[in-house]
Amino acid sequence: MAVDASPLLREQLERGLTLPATWYSDPEVLRLEDERIFSRFWQYAGSISQLEEPGSFLTCRAGATPIVVVRTRDGEFRGFVNVCRHRGHLVAEGCGRRETLQCPYHAWTYDLDGSLRAAPRSEREPGFDKADWSLRPVLVETWGPLVFVNPDLGTAALAETLGDLPAEMAARGLDPAALEYRGRSRDWVIEANWKLVVENFLECYHCPVAHKSFSKLIDVDPDSYRLTTGRWTSSQFGPVTGRGNGLPYEPVGEIRASQFHYVWPNWTLNTFPGPPHVRVLVFHPLDAEHTSTFVDGFWAPGTSEETMAEITEFGGVVGAEDVALVESVHRGLRSNAIEQGRLLLDSEHLLQHFQLLVHDAVAG
Ligand code: FES
Ligand SMILES: [Fe+2]
Repeated sequence: MAVDASPLLREQLERGLTLPATWYSDPEVLRLEDERIFSRFWQYAGSISQLEEPGSFLTCRAGATPIVVVRTRDGEFRGFVNVCRHRGHLVAEGCGRRETLQCPYHAWTYDLDGSLRAAPRSEREPGFDKADWSLRPVLVETWGPLVFVNPDLGTAALAETLGDLPAEMAARGLDPAALEYRGRSRDWVIEANWKLVVENFLECYHCPVAHKSFSKLIDVDPDSYRLTTGRWTSSQFGPVTGRGNGLPYEPVGEIRASQFHYVWPNWTLNTFPGPPHVRVLVFHPLDAEHTSTFVDGFWAPGTSEETMAEITEFGGVVGAEDVALVESVHRGLRSNAIEQGRLLLDSEHLLQHFQLLVHDAVAG
C-alpha cells in the first residue's frame, strides 16, 4: 500500500489524531522506517564493559542492519555492518573477544579495523583486490558506559540527539558515567508493532487503570506527574506517593522520584525511586508485527543484589502489564476496525511528539 506521509496527515497529528492504523502492520511502512529512521539515527548498542580489552566485541542491530562493535588494539571503538562482504554470513555473534573478525562460512578474515586481511584462495582470482572488500563502517559513540551506533556516516554527533537530557538527569541525581553495568535481561518478543511499544511508554494516562502497583508507588495524578519534550527526547517525572500501605517495594535511596526518558527512535532510560540507577530499555522491530526488547541495568557501585532484584522485579511486573496492553492494541488496529485514534493531548502529548517525529522521518 502507498504510504501517505502527507501535509494533511501532519496537520491531523497536530490536532491529536494518531498515525493511521495501517502504519502499525504494513511492511512497506517498516521498510521506509528502516531506511529513513533506523539507518539514520543513533541507537543503543550495549555496555562499554563488554569492550574493555583490545579485540573484545559486541553485536547489536540498527533496525534490520546487524552491527558489530569492536575495541581495536589501539583502544579505539570501531563499528561495522556485521555482514560478510563475501556472501553475507554474519561475521560475529553475541559478544566476546577475538584477534580478528573471521567469518564462520568461508573464513574471510577481517582485521579489527574492518579491512579484509585474508580470503582463502583469493590469490587464484585475477583482479581480486582485498582493499575493495572491507567491512562497511558505522559510527560509534559512548555516553558514560553506554555505547551507541549509527549507520549514517554523515550524521550529527550523539550529543545533538541527547540535547539537554544529560543535564536534566544530572540535576536529578543521575550521571550514567557514575553507574556500573550489572547485566542484561533476556530478550523477549512482543507481538506488536515497535511504535505501539514506544507509544505505550510515552503516556501514563493508562497507569491508574492498568498499573495498580505502580500507581501505589508513583503519584500518577496529572497535576503531579510531569511531562516534558525536547527536540529528540521526552521525559516523564513521577514523584513517590509517600502514602498508603502495600508499596511494591520500599524506595530507599537518594532518587526520590521516578524518571522515564525516551530518546528517538527506540530506546529509553528508566529510573525508579531508590539508589541511582538507569535501566536502558530498547525496542527493536523484528518485523512489522513483532518487537524484541531487552533491559540493560546500570547501577550505582555497591547497590545490593537484593535492591537490584527488587526494583528489577517491580519493573518486570509493570512490563508484563504493558506487553498485554500493546499486544491488545496491535490486534485491535490490525483488524482495520478504526482508521485512526484520537489522543488526549494534555496527557498524551509525548505520544504526539513521537508520532510527528515518525511522520517527518518517513516523509523524508
Ligand atoms: S560469507 Fe563470509 S566468508 Fe563466505
Ligand atoms: Fe505502562
